[in-house]
Amino acid sequence: SFVTSDKMLADAQRGRYAVGAFNVENMEMVKAVIAAAEEAQAPAMLQTTPSTVRYGSLETFVAMVRAEADKTEIPVCLHLDHGDSFELAIQAIKAGYTSVMIDGSKLPFAENAALTRRVVDVACAVGIPVEAELGRVGGKEDDLKAHADQNTDPDQARQFEELTGVSSLAVAIGTAHGFYVGEPVLDKDRVAEIAAKVKAPLVLHGASGLSESDVRECVSKGMCKVNFATELRVAYTGAVKKLLAEAPKTYDPKKLGLAAMEAVKEQVIARMKMCGCVGKA
Ligand code: 13P
Ligand code: ZN
Ligand code: NA
Repeated sequence: SFVTSDKMLADAQRGRYAVGAFNVENMEMVKAVIAAAEEAQAPAMLQTTPSTVRYGSLETFVAMVRAEADKTEIPVCLHLDHGDSFELAIQAIKAGYTSVMIDGSKLPFAENAALTRRVVDVACAVGIPVEAELGRVGGKEDDLKAHADQNTDPDQARQFEELTGVSSLAVAIGTAHGFYVGEPVLDKDRVAEIAAKVKAPLVLHGASGLSESDVRECVSKGMCKVNFATELRVAYTGAVKKLLAEAPKTYDPKKLGLAAMEAVKEQVIARMKMCGCVGKA
């Protein structure tokens, strides 16, 4: 069923596990994540970044996810990942997204809080949960390094929650988007420190490249949603490359799509196990 993210995240917070959130870029990835959720009997969040929205469209992703989610009893939600403007967040809601993120983490604290508050005011009126971000998760823009001085301050996080009424909060503890250059240095104790001061479920970004024990420890300390993107793209493309290497004469996109879906599905099931959400649907 096609649902909002609030109940699945509240259940995760109460049950001390995390919901896996998986970035999808086409129909094959949508089908693979939902097939994984069915097989694992796990709730699932599918999410699209602004660049993925530009590749397809908000309406296209809503139509695909709704059609696939309606075929199953498993709760499935469609979330805007790293929404970069008030307009895009509201357009996503209008198109039928059941959860949105507004990412004002590059802005100064007061501006981030004000932008988040504006989105929450509108989203709340129509029952759509909002994720925001405080602190800086590393990534491509930051030459793949996360900076410890940009980790989220627990007291600021509490103040941010009070100012914005946000539904879930992405926090920085040393993770970065993409794979890691060298070993990631995570401040896992900070997760528990923030969780002690913030009521909203916490979100871990940049999970591709983390070890199983890192993810499990972050979840045990209070992360309720864990985002996986890069490694799904690698699994997808790897399966296509392998098929083309083994059978270079292949020209049917369905053959490539089936191989890619199988690889993404297996990867997603493994990550759901890591998050502890298997059997929680
Ligand atoms: P990775 O690409 O490191 O998995 O990060 C995913 C993410 O945080 C999506 O918002
Ligand atoms: Zn992210
Ligand atoms: Na990462």
